[in-house]
Amino acid sequence: MGTGHVLTEPDVIAAYGIDWTGRFQGTPAAVIRPADCAEAAAVVSHCKKAGFAIVPQGGNTGLVGGGVPLEGEIVLSLRRLSWVADVDHQGGQLTAGAGTTIGGIQSAANASGWDYGVDLGSRGSATIGGTIATNAGGLQVLRHGPTRAQLLGVEAVLGTGVTISHLGGLIKDNTGYDLGGLLCGSEGTLGVVTSARVRLVPPNPDRVVAVVAFSSSAAAVEAALFLRRSLPDLQSLEFFVDPGLALVCQVTGMARPFPDRHSAYLLIEVAGQRDPMPAMSEALDSTHAIEDVAVATDAPRRAQLWRYREGHTEAINSLGAPHKLDVTLPSQALADFIDQIPGIVNDADPRATTWLFGHAADGNVHVNITGVGSDDLTVDDRVLVFAAGLGGSISAEHGIGRAKQPWLHLNRSNEEIATFRRIKDALDPAGILNPNVLLPAM
Ligand code: FAD
Ligand code: MLT
Ligand code: ZN
Repeated sequence: MGTGHVLTEPDVIAAYGIDWTGRFQGTPAAVIRPADCAEAAAVVSHCKKAGFAIVPQGGNTGLVGGGVPLEGEIVLSLRRLSWVADVDHQGGQLTAGAGTTIGGIQSAANASGWDYGVDLGSRGSATIGGTIATNAGGLQVLRHGPTRAQLLGVEAVLGTGVTISHLGGLIKDNTGYDLGGLLCGSEGTLGVVTSARVRLVPPNPDRVVAVVAFSSSAAAVEAALFLRRSLPDLQSLEFFVDPGLALVCQVTGMARPFPDRHSAYLLIEVAGQRDPMPAMSEALDSTHAIEDVAVATDAPRRAQLWRYREGHTEAINSLGAPHKLDVTLPSQALADFIDQIPGIVNDADPRATTWLFGHAADGNVHVNITGVGSDDLTVDDRVLVFAAGLGGSISAEHGIGRAKQPWLHLNRSNEEIATFRRIKDALDPAGILNPNVLLPAM
């Protein structure tokens, strides 16, 4: 590797020390950029001997402060491991280096007549390694599942310094523990993923997108439940409310989709191998309480409708680094949660503004809060306690990282957390891999 990819100049390494939102910031001891798995293994082995802590980093689009060196750790950037190989055109699989972006995997899949089952707004920067480490969800979970469901095997350097590789890509392979599945969602605490074998999905080129307006969140949630069971080719089913739409329009300069304001909106995408319009029309005709609809079939107009939803993350960030909470609710509690949470946040801190959007089909609400200090965790506490009390999860898809670490106990028992620690001790006995995230401090 030589010293050319060991970076220490403060102005060069600064960008590796701050997260996408700007809320989490640290100073890396150094940034090391291996070219391949062998170099990554050499770095891990050396750090294990020397007792240096490492934060693995991919595209640095994570939203829970888990990929930046908040305690002066070494950043191990996997971005140079950007390649696609062994594409199986018949069977629909490929192998990708950990630093390959999701957009890169989607392009490689498309070029071989397939598609990749995970899509997310950060596709241009988020890497396959990072999405495995967080078990990223995104915009198509209802159809294809999260990242874990795409994974056929991984190559990774464990905290022991040992490299494990299981990239055969067999769909059925019950030969013991699923180490790839274990690394998936482990947030860089057990091993450094260096490559992965993923399954591809058949393309669904015929698409229609609708943004549908409702007079209340409850009506939108009820419609979402109905649409899930009446549209088998549903690709995405997303949710946002009027203040978020107004902010996106203000920040981007886009015109509103409808002449009037409405309380809540669903973005519905149906995708198939034949014209999905008749199914979409029939389903919308049978959906109650719709106030207005905008439909697009051609790609540019579809992309425009998607911008109303995907534009939320950047638009909210333009107000200052938000507290980003990412909860899932059981379907019967979703509408109540959406209605009550702004009041609960405001009771906790009258300066706070709550922004709500998310993945309606998965019960996944993104609760973004602006107007409160970065280190003031009062509002975080109220939201997470309320969600868990309703039977929800404090992290639907972004992970625990640093941001949710103090609340892991709301969803995981002492016995589970103790088991997590025993797994961590076995795979990372020196405790050098991302030691300051996920597991609560002892
Ligand atoms: P990083 O941010 O670099 O790292 C994230 C975590 O993974 C850290 O804990 C890090 O240590 C670990 N890690 C990174 N690479 C490796 C590796 N090779 N081996 C081991 N550990 C590693 N997330 C969703 O789930 N759904 C969404 O819809 C979604 N949309 C987004 C939209 C925008 C605009 C943005 C900015 C983010 C979005 N995210 C979403 C969050 C983010 O993109 C995901 O969490 C993604 O998985 C992070 O990938 P990354 O390569 O950027 O990882
Ligand atoms: C999304 O669904 O847009 C992402 O998870 C990003 C975010 O929560 O801001
Ligand atoms: Zn999301």
